[in-house]
Amino acid sequence: MASSRTLALALLFSFLSCYASVPSQASSDGFLQCLSAAIPNELLYTQSSPLFTPVLVSSVRNPRLFTNTTVKPLVIVTPTNASHVQSAVVCGRRHDVRIRVRSGGHDYEGLSYRSERPEVFAVVDLNKMRSVRVNPSAGTASIDSGATLGEVYYAVSKASTQLAFAAGLCPTIGVGGFLSGGGFGMLLRKYGAAIDSVLDATLVDAEGRLLDKKAMGRDVFWAIRGGGGESFGIVLSWKVKLVPVPPTVTMFKVAKTVAEGAVDILTKWQVVAPALPEDLFIRVVVQSSAAEFQSMYLGTCDALLPLMGSRFPELGLNRTHCNEMTWIQSVPYIYLGSTATVEDILNRTTSDGLRKATSDYVRQPIPKDGWLKIFDFLAQPTAGIMIVDPYGGKISAFPESATPFPHRAGVLFNIQYMNFWSAATDGSAQIKWLKDFYTFMTPYVSSNPRQAYVNYRDLDLGQNVVVGNITTYESAKVWGEKYYKDNFKRLAFAKGKVDPNNYFRNEQSIPPLVARK
Ligand SMILES: Cc1cc2nc3c(=O)[nH]c(=O)nc-3n(C[C@H](O)[C@H](O)[C@H](O)COP(=O)(O)OP(=O)(O)OC[C@H]3O[C@@H](n4cnc5c(N)ncnc54)[C@H](O)[C@@H]3O)c2cc1C
Ligand SMILES: *[C@@H]1O[C@H](CO)[C@@H](O)[C@H](O)[C@H]1NC(C)=O
Ligand SMILES: *[C@@H]1O[C@H](CO)[C@@H](O)[C@H](O)[C@H]1NC(C)=O
Ligand SMILES: *[C@@H]1O[C@H](CO)[C@@H](O)[C@H](O)[C@H]1NC(C)=O
Ligand SMILES: *[C@@H]1O[C@H](CO)[C@@H](O)[C@H](O)[C@H]1NC(C)=O
Ligand SMILES: *[C@@H]1O[C@H](CO)[C@@H](O)[C@H](O)[C@H]1NC(C)=O
Repeated sequence: MASSRTLALALLFSFLSCYASVPSQASSDGFLQCLSAAIPNELLYTQSSPLFTPVLVSSVRNPRLFTNTTVKPLVIVTPTNASHVQSAVVCGRRHDVRIRVRSGGHDYEGLSYRSERPEVFAVVDLNKMRSVRVNPSAGTASIDSGATLGEVYYAVSKASTQLAFAAGLCPTIGVGGFLSGGGFGMLLRKYGAAIDSVLDATLVDAEGRLLDKKAMGRDVFWAIRGGGGESFGIVLSWKVKLVPVPPTVTMFKVAKTVAEGAVDILTKWQVVAPALPEDLFIRVVVQSSAAEFQSMYLGTCDALLPLMGSRFPELGLNRTHCNEMTWIQSVPYIYLGSTATVEDILNRTTSDGLRKATSDYVRQPIPKDGWLKIFDFLAQPTAGIMIVDPYGGKISAFPESATPFPHRAGVLFNIQYMNFWSAATDGSAQIKWLKDFYTFMTPYVSSNPRQAYVNYRDLDLGQNVVVGNITTYESAKVWGEKYYKDNFKRLAFAKGKVDPNNYFRNEQSIPPLVARK
């Protein structure tokens, strides 16, 4: 009863806020005039431009989020320098038109280019601001937010064969969104989340000011390193510490079916993988009746085999499974397959299908009986997949409050659930499976709060209610504590410092809290 009343109120508020936030035709026209006066016209794509749709879909990574009913932007701005971004914000403030910022467009709910509710907004697409400058002797790189991870990896490997960037698996991800949510990949046990390597950043705030680490202040610099995209302004560039890698890494992919003992091996994996030496990372893709163990070892096969023999003999690793290569070769190998080349990681075109995902964190080993039931779920006709990434090592060594990304000590592994469907169906059966699986997993995963990873964004975890232009803290807390645990409140105060009027906002942006003097 109570919850349905809360829901009714929430709906009422969001309904009111829709009307409050849709500006008049006059303000839309004024906004476009303001943009035209400050930004070259060839960098602006209004809805009547023939290139509007091609530019908009250029980095839509999930067709579910782009249909004939999608709430699209009034205009897409493709800045080539910081002053264009500053002008877009100033014009947006003046004419009360919101901005959504897009780097790589991989947002799981498309919040970088569409609105869930009726809204007049512009997209600032950073696709043309993507330079990567590597300083090999200092071991650092300055990276524009519009670069893809593949472009960063490539530039780092060209500058030095001994350095890497500790980031994610998919080379088309944008640096802007990735770092905004924490970011992790095959090096997470050795070097932590990607934001753990951020040294500096430049931010355009809601006043249109360009701020570096010092100028934005301690709280805001803390908040932008994992506190989620969009909330604090537009991050234009990041300075990161690169990490050393050996000349040879060893990759393996070993699949085990349930008939070959996958249940026992996973039951063992979940306690072994988070406790292995940090040089060894073993993730698992669990699908249908099989588990594929995908691994990177920072060393040679000769060193890996005895380690696996003593710590995880159940996997039966032998020399035929080893693939020795350089770190940069491991990037296409793990994500694009063994025939892909290093140049393929520069390809920004993808062919992603319709899908929906959500996430969990596991802090206690799942009993063998639980894994058996998980395989029952994965055997259903509408089933999707489950990807598990072990933690421990460096990612778990930082205190939960070091950055907004709170998934640290005590986490055994992250789960990403994902389901896919073809255009021939509406996906409702697959989404139901995903939700049923998430419900089934409740007793096995973290609770109070049930932790989730913001970069695997799921709007079903909760959406903001906006009253009088301000996102309510209570509405945001529902999803916010899942993504950020106790860091959520501190994020809200940081938001209150940098954007008290809540100019930058979306369905899951941080609400502003302003400290009473
Ligand atoms: C195929 C695929 C594989 C993935 N693999 C991994 C993985 O291995 N590891 C991992 O950690 N994550 C992974 N992710 C998740 C990914 O990290 C997030 O989706 C991330 O937010 C994408 O960043 P983006 O710039 O591409 O997305 P966008 O859609 O451009 O942005 C995401 C959010 O950040 C905001 N934002 C974007 N740029 C900026 C900026 N410059 N300043 C402020 N806010 C900004 C947007 O408004 C939006 O809210 C994967 C996603 C996909 C689709
Ligand atoms: C949108 O597309 C769907 C099919 O995907 C179609 O049934 C519907 O009529 C279309 N609506 C409009 C307004 O074009
Ligand atoms: C940005 O580009 C504009 C041209 O659109 C140019 O006039 C301006 O000087 C540039 N600003 C900077 C800081 O490079
Ligand atoms: C290596 O393991 C595979 C099974 O995964 C097995 O088929 C093969 O015979 C093994 N090779 C050696 C040399 O032990
Ligand atoms: C880039 O990737 C897309 C999708 O996988 C593919 O169709 C295309 O051929 C690739 N382009 C190049 C230049 O390799
Ligand atoms: C929201 O802000 C706009 C200006 O940005 C203002 O015109 C409007 O009155 C505000 N609405 C409320 C309810 O405060």
